[in-house]
Amino acid sequence: MSTKKVILVSGSSGQLGQTLLEKKDLYTNQYDFFFADRTQLDLSSEASISECFLKIRPDIFLNFGAYTQVDKAEESKTEAFLINQKACAILAKLCVQNNCHLVHISTDYVYSGTGLEAFKETHIPAPVNTYGKSKLAGEKEIIKSACKYTIVRTSWLYSKHRNNFVKSMIKYGQERSSLRVVNDQIGSPTWTEDLIDAIFTLVQQEQLGIFNYSNEGACSWYEFTKLILELKQINCIVNPIPSTEFNTTAKRPAYSLMDKSKFKKITGKEIPNWADALKDALQQF
Ligand SMILES: NC(=O)c1ccc[n+]([C@@H]2O[C@H](COP(=O)([O-])OP(=O)(O)OC[C@H]3O[C@@H](n4cnc5c(N)ncnc54)[C@H](OP(=O)(O)O)[C@@H]3O)[C@@H](O)[C@H]2O)c1
Repeated sequence: MSTKKVILVSGSSGQLGQTLLEKKDLYTNQYDFFFADRTQLDLSSEASISECFLKIRPDIFLNFGAYTQVDKAEESKTEAFLINQKACAILAKLCVQNNCHLVHISTDYVYSGTGLEAFKETHIPAPVNTYGKSKLAGEKEIIKSACKYTIVRTSWLYSKHRNNFVKSMIKYGQERSSLRVVNDQIGSPTWTEDLIDAIFTLVQQEQLGIFNYSNEGACSWYEFTKLILELKQINCIVNPIPSTEFNTTAKRPAYSLMDKSKFKKITGKEIPNWADALKDALQQF
């Protein structure tokens, strides 16, 4: 019989799930993995969650599935809360009952985004849109369940998988002669490979609680785009614009930089800078 811990991953077809699927050999000496996509574990159905969970009986549950459409969430509040809040309550209860460690991914969008100071985990959250509110509600369900949990708040994820900002900018940059990109929203991009590395550091060290994690440093979407196009040698002019000139259904936090000193101090790990991470990541695109 295997003595390895069993890990069940939800949302396995998403960016983070696909990145782990690709990197899992780094961890298979310690863990047996079960990757569940929406057809195997539907986060909007209690029966589906319970059935899959009780079939696999994981030691660790990586909740990578989520309702992630920030603008659409404004019109689909019920669905966003069903997947981002209610599923967390169901999972947390199963984790309590089965002594399972719940690792949940949350977002910088739980923070208000006002001010000019990086948010610490202790900062009182105040999300400005439905997506952020639903993710915060999910965190609260997990915390109040008293299950063994690790919540990782991250930001601006990108990878070679699925749709994301980096892939869109490469596509638009190749199609158009100029782009207008918002220059007054500041945050930190995060390459999913670095996030997976951070998650497994926390899992292996059995660190519990809430952790901020993104790549190090800060930029605006405009600065991010400039570097993407420069590194990909795409000849397209990028013009900075204020967010008032780029209407979106959901409000975005203006300054969602997160303080990662807790992660660095507790794990003893350094965090790659966003520009270095982008350079490495783009080798794969
Ligand atoms: N992307 C970002 O910039 C960002 C920033 C901060 C935090 N996060 C958080 O990071 C985590 C991973 O994000 P990501 O970028 O990997 O997201 P993603 O690529 O959008 O993937 C989300 C995954 O959730 C799945 N999902 C949606 N509804 C589901 C349901 N009812 N049942 C089961 N699975 C369902 C999707 O399945 P389908 O493939 O079937 O659609 C997809 O596999 C999420 O918790 C997200 O909130 C993301």
